[in-house]
Amino acid sequence: MKSLWILVLLAVYVKIYDTSVRFTNIKCAAFHPDFATFQQCQLKVIARGVIGLNVHVKLWQLPVNNISVNLALFKKFSGYKPFLYNITVDLCKYLKNPRKHPFLDLFHRVIVNDSNINHTCPYNHDIIVKNVLLNENNFKYLPLPRGEYRFDLKVAAYNDWKADVKAFIDISNDL
Ligand SMILES: *[C@@H]1O[C@H](CO)[C@@H](O)[C@H](O)[C@H]1NC(C)=O
Ligand SMILES: *[C@@H]1O[C@H](CO)[C@@H](O)[C@H](O)[C@H]1NC(C)=O
Ligand SMILES: *[C@@H]1O[C@H](CO)[C@@H](O)[C@H](O)[C@H]1NC(C)=O
Ligand SMILES: *[C@@H]1O[C@H](CO)[C@@H](O)[C@H](O)[C@H]1NC(C)=O
Repeated sequence: MKSLWILVLLAVYVKIYDTSVRFTNIKCAAFHPDFATFQQCQLKVIARGVIGLNVHVKLWQLPVNNISVNLALFKKFSGYKPFLYNITVDLCKYLKNPRKHPFLDLFHRVIVNDSNINHTCPYNHDIIVKNVLLNENNFKYLPLPRGEYRFDLKVAAYNDWKADVKAFIDISNDL
């Protein structure tokens, strides 16, 4: 009986202090260093079990007026396999009128308050994403079964792929 209570308390503790969604890794690649380079691309432990994502992109050819992004989701089975979502969007058009793509909106909601991306084109400054955290609420409109995922964000300017960021995410309970 006593050990049952300990288990219950432990479950409550884990529920409160541990979100079931977290970043596990990040990889950034710049394909054209004369256009963009990564000054920072890392996860930081902010508190126990709380992982913040940090990216700083230096843009070398300003202003940037023409951006497309490809956002694709992968789920790990034996190796990462494309999973449900793969969209390519004119970002400048999207930023004029967000909330049009459920999958891109998820991404936008997650980083909008912790980055300097939330304005319309052109971009004439570095892109800085600071201590982005994940929680279950982020996936309210896009429930995913538990597992290991990878979000690939590829960015093009003037129809030429310039960089990509791969964010690895662990979901430990079905959302
Ligand atoms: C996503 O779609 C594009 C265009 O349809 C395709 O070229 C690309 O290979 C797809 N990516 C994935 C990960 O399936
Ligand atoms: C972002 O910040 C605004 C204003 O503080 C807040 O109303 C909104 O809920 C926040 N959005 C997210 C996704 O956290
Ligand atoms: C992002 O920008 C849009 C358009 O300017 C604005 O309506 C929205 O409130 C902004 N969101 C945040 C979280 O700042
Ligand atoms: C972006 O640039 C490409 C390549 O120069 C061009 O084909 C395309 O029409 C441009 N898109 C917009 C929305 O201007």
